[in-house]
Amino acid sequence: MNRRFPVILLYGLLLLWSGSLRAQYVIRDAAEDRWYKNSIIYNLDVHTFKDSDGDGQGDFQGLIQQLDYLKGLGVDALWLAPFQPSPRRDDGYDVADFYGVDSTCGTPGDFAAFMYQAKLRGLRVIMDMVLNHTSDAHPWFKRARQDTASPYHQWYAWTQQRPSNYDKGMAFPGVQREVWSYDSVAKAWYYHRFYRFQPDLNFANPYLRSEAERILAYWLQQGVAGFRLDAVPFMIEVATPGVDQPPQQYEVITGMQRFVQWHNGSAIVLGEANVPPEDNVKYFGENGEGLQMMFNFYVNQYLFYAFATGKPALLVKALQDTKKKPATAQWAYFLRNHDEIDLGRLSTKQRNEVYQAFGPDTSMQLYDRGIRRRLAPMFNNNRPLMEMAYSLLFALPGTPVIRYGEEIGMGDDLRLQERLAVRTPMQWSSALQAGFTTAPKAFRPVISGGDYGYEKVNVAAQQQNPGSLLRVIQELIRLRRQCPEIGLGSWEIQQVAPAVLLMRYTFKGKSVLTLHNFSKMAQQVRLNAAAGDDYLLELTDKDKRQQLQPVNRRYDILLPGYGYKWYRVNAAL
Ligand code: GLC
Repeated sequence: MNRRFPVILLYGLLLLWSGSLRAQYVIRDAAEDRWYKNSIIYNLDVHTFKDSDGDGQGDFQGLIQQLDYLKGLGVDALWLAPFQPSPRRDDGYDVADFYGVDSTCGTPGDFAAFMYQAKLRGLRVIMDMVLNHTSDAHPWFKRARQDTASPYHQWYAWTQQRPSNYDKGMAFPGVQREVWSYDSVAKAWYYHRFYRFQPDLNFANPYLRSEAERILAYWLQQGVAGFRLDAVPFMIEVATPGVDQPPQQYEVITGMQRFVQWHNGSAIVLGEANVPPEDNVKYFGENGEGLQMMFNFYVNQYLFYAFATGKPALLVKALQDTKKKPATAQWAYFLRNHDEIDLGRLSTKQRNEVYQAFGPDTSMQLYDRGIRRRLAPMFNNNRPLMEMAYSLLFALPGTPVIRYGEEIGMGDDLRLQERLAVRTPMQWSSALQAGFTTAPKAFRPVISGGDYGYEKVNVAAQQQNPGSLLRVIQELIRLRRQCPEIGLGSWEIQQVAPAVLLMRYTFKGKSVLTLHNFSKMAQQVRLNAAAGDDYLLELTDKDKRQQLQPVNRRYDILLPGYGYKWYRVNAAL
């Protein structure tokens, strides 16, 4: 036996022992192993993304062709707008079969092929799940109205008399007339928060709850990583004739979360719940037993107010008002989504200020509360402002969600009805029909001509141009990836100038600072170095890698108009 063996053995044992000792001093961070807390989500509708078979409509095979583009952009997860069979009178949010794939965008086989290709590239897939209502063409509703004795009748909410508040609480004021509509077949009034052709499901019914679970299980088995749950506050309400604020069944949310996690431990529910901050806890749950993620609609409204006025003070307040949440929960932040920008929580004066800045014409406004435009035209294609806005999106303490086409600064088509204005086909190249389809005509018009037409604004051109918005956004995504502090850490805001938002995030002893200037005027700011800060390394300046040393424990920073800077504290060059 080797004479040195006992020494080596002893040394090995010592190493093992010290390792196990060290391990006891590492506290696992619950947030760190949650993929959704530090991901970048890309939202698209298969119908408007890419057509593979020349019928003028986007499809799953087309989406497969573009997956490398999405991977190259740097996103982690795709959120797909509804793709189930539907009369599509609300662009697919009127589902007629929860278990199918709309034949215009492919077959179940195409969906499976897409899921496989997404998985190969490490892209997770979140799907829209619209359980608040069905289409009136859904077989459940057909049965429900034809046969009031059928069990399906109870899956919807009915009343024999017209309720006094039949026209209160509409989701689409100005377009919708009522929330209780008479059905001449059932000879009763049924409840619908949205359009008349979207009867609300009744979640007080235990059989419906079980069916909803089967639907979730079905798609989880197809490999989806989670659901974007539509209209959560409406889904959980008990429609009650004559009651404006019907009771909410929060246990439906916790039940769903438990069910989803039981089927797939890492799957999530991302809720669409535009609720006031004091209600957040009811949706997230005290200890994270509710939705893992929610869109922060509250912050979104003050964000646009800040862009409109050049002053982020109320945005700061909104961030603080929504700060409290369970450690495992996460906010989803966005600039634009597929709907109007909802400004319903601003005061009339504040809303008018935002209208004035970004949607002055009434044709740009919708439902007495919002703006139906894309970001680039709202910002009048102001590049510094757009870049600052995207930098901020990636710097907000949550998970950024990008809407397809935003990365190239696509425009809107106000001739299209309601929210369809912001749902035009993706602009891939300067080929005919924007490279979206080889058909002579797309099912929905491609934007052409002018500043936002596909001839000028398209992916192919921007990929070739280092100064393009696409390249800037790609770079911001890369930067965000290097800063887990933002998605996972704790954060605080320092007031340094009325037009500047300064955030500091800390995670596992490392810190990042971001500064965003909401004014078109340059701002000279002075900030105090925190205890332990020796210098800052700017991450946003690609040309000069340089450390910023404090003078008398202070940093002086010049931000250009709409400028932004990200720094890492004490990072070596
Ligand atoms: C959600 C969707 C919206 C849809 C509505 C009804 O608010 O975001 O697009 O029209 O639900 O399903």
